[in-house]
Amino acid sequence: MLKNVLSGLIFLALVSSAFAQEPLLINAYNRNTTSLNGYWKYIVDPYENGYYNYRYEPFDQQKNPSKGAYFLNSKPDGPSDLVEYNFEKMDSLLVPGDWNTQKERLFYYEGTVWYKKEFDYALSKESNRAFVYFEASNYKTEVYFNGKKLGSHVGGFTPFNFEVTHLLKKKNNFLVVKVDNKRVKEGVPTLNTDWWNYGGLTRDVKIIETSESVIQDYFVQLDPKNKNNIKGYVSLNGQKKAFADVEISIPKLKIKQKLKTDNSGTVAFEIVAKNMTYWSLENPFLYEVSIATKAEKITDTIGFRQISTKGSKILLNDVPIFLKGISVHEESPIRDGRGASEEDAKKLLQWARELGCNYVRLAHYPHNEHMVRLADKMGILVWEENPVYWTISWKNEGTYENAKNQLSEVIDRDKNRASVIIWSMANETPTSKARNTFLTNLANFTKRKDPTRLISAALEQRDYKGNKFIRTIDDPFADVVDVLSFNQYIGWYDGLPEKAAKINWKIEQNKPVIISEFGAGAKYGLHGNKYTRWTEEYQEYLYIETLKMLSRIDQLQGLSPWILVDFRSPRRVLPEIQDTWNRKGLISEDGKKKKAFFVLKNFYEKKE
Ligand code: GCU
Repeated sequence: MLKNVLSGLIFLALVSSAFAQEPLLINAYNRNTTSLNGYWKYIVDPYENGYYNYRYEPFDQQKNPSKGAYFLNSKPDGPSDLVEYNFEKMDSLLVPGDWNTQKERLFYYEGTVWYKKEFDYALSKESNRAFVYFEASNYKTEVYFNGKKLGSHVGGFTPFNFEVTHLLKKKNNFLVVKVDNKRVKEGVPTLNTDWWNYGGLTRDVKIIETSESVIQDYFVQLDPKNKNNIKGYVSLNGQKKAFADVEISIPKLKIKQKLKTDNSGTVAFEIVAKNMTYWSLENPFLYEVSIATKAEKITDTIGFRQISTKGSKILLNDVPIFLKGISVHEESPIRDGRGASEEDAKKLLQWARELGCNYVRLAHYPHNEHMVRLADKMGILVWEENPVYWTISWKNEGTYENAKNQLSEVIDRDKNRASVIIWSMANETPTSKARNTFLTNLANFTKRKDPTRLISAALEQRDYKGNKFIRTIDDPFADVVDVLSFNQYIGWYDGLPEKAAKINWKIEQNKPVIISEFGAGAKYGLHGNKYTRWTEEYQEYLYIETLKMLSRIDQLQGLSPWILVDFRSPRRVLPEIQDTWNRKGLISEDGKKKKAFFVLKNFYEKKE
């Protein structure tokens, strides 16, 4: 018995160490940063020849790895020396950016690519510290600095950082990063998804410089139970983090609160705030919030609002709201591939605004930080989703730790964003005991980490008591979430659009309902009668019939139809229609609005 317990503990230690990153520096957005974006040299390494020796032993676990280890950025000592790679003579990839759409030969590539960037760097003050910060890297990343392993990260859509203070040189630092986007059964997501597996350093990479006792983390939000109270915590990291003076100031609220951290470097606070302007859709007011220690000060812009449910209503600052939404994938509307720039975010959210949206579902994984910060400014509410998608390995402990780690990272990054109101645990996952436990544990973890937001997931549904004309939610996880949500495709995967007129929904839980997906494929510019699949008229007809059907659901509090823009997927291969594009967008990949766009726009305009 003892042996089993011991082996279980060892296994858990190994598993958790796979995700043991250093604590995230939040608000990288407004810190003292030096960008490492630009052209990086790269080596395509499908056999991971630069990572394993010929006995398949990782070089970075050897005391004196051979020169064959790519992370050493080795150079031959002389004409007879054997080194079989040379970053300098290789081609370059632009960072941020996926490799699939930058190089024709990498369009379908799934495997390892090594990146290398060289740079000089002088700390602005000797006492300061430096971290290398990755906004995202898809999917499994190993990071090396000046030949030393910093650590690894799993997950393609959340930030991570490593300290480099003691390895930094004034000249010729080299950062080598191994990125492997191979899909794996026990991954999060798993092997099967309906989106393109864009690999690489898909978002910004930067050096963050901080004081010795860095302001690591903070949570500054309106008390969900008292709207005259701002509460949260500040956490420092460094030798002098204990019993340190911290000051929070919010000038426009005439708040200047002096605090002192405890021996762990953290201090919780509650501050009474009078005459506050709450963040709202009509007035997405953001306060400037500063957090300062003796050695550093960082500022953020934070909106104060409450989000809650009451029976079947969703309340923003105690007022019921209807979420006029649309689902969005993270693809650039300006060029091909992953979208990670502020420009990409602006275009996507402007299109959502044109559609009449006050809400977006960022599917099926955390999008880049520009999206949520821009949504804060524009007064657009956001559903953020963990990539627990379809047939996850529910019984695999490492899979759960991975899912929890990715969820923890996006909550850390965005927990101060007023626009973010819903954390989605999963999308369309087949019910089972193991899956229900997995998702319930994730939901409980989320509630503890962030008690100020709502929890949802795209749940399963079925005929109501065998009656094929009445549908209902059939998912034990419905008892756990705050907001019920499901994807339904009557008229596309399930009959034709006129079927919607015959279907009614009977939702038995007294909770708000959001339809997280419905839609139909249409090739922009393909016209015909409304019964001809792939025409704009068919998609338009489906939207008209579906909106009528869904409006019959009493608890309906929101919609995020699938999807704003056509997006790439290897599953969509119908020649002359799909050609690797999922055509359910209301806008084509080259920015042209289909007829159904105006059906939804009109519906939202008429909605109070
Ligand atoms: C599913 C899934 C989406 C997918 C869509 C489709 O509901 O959630 O990720 O793209 O259906 O089939 O187009």
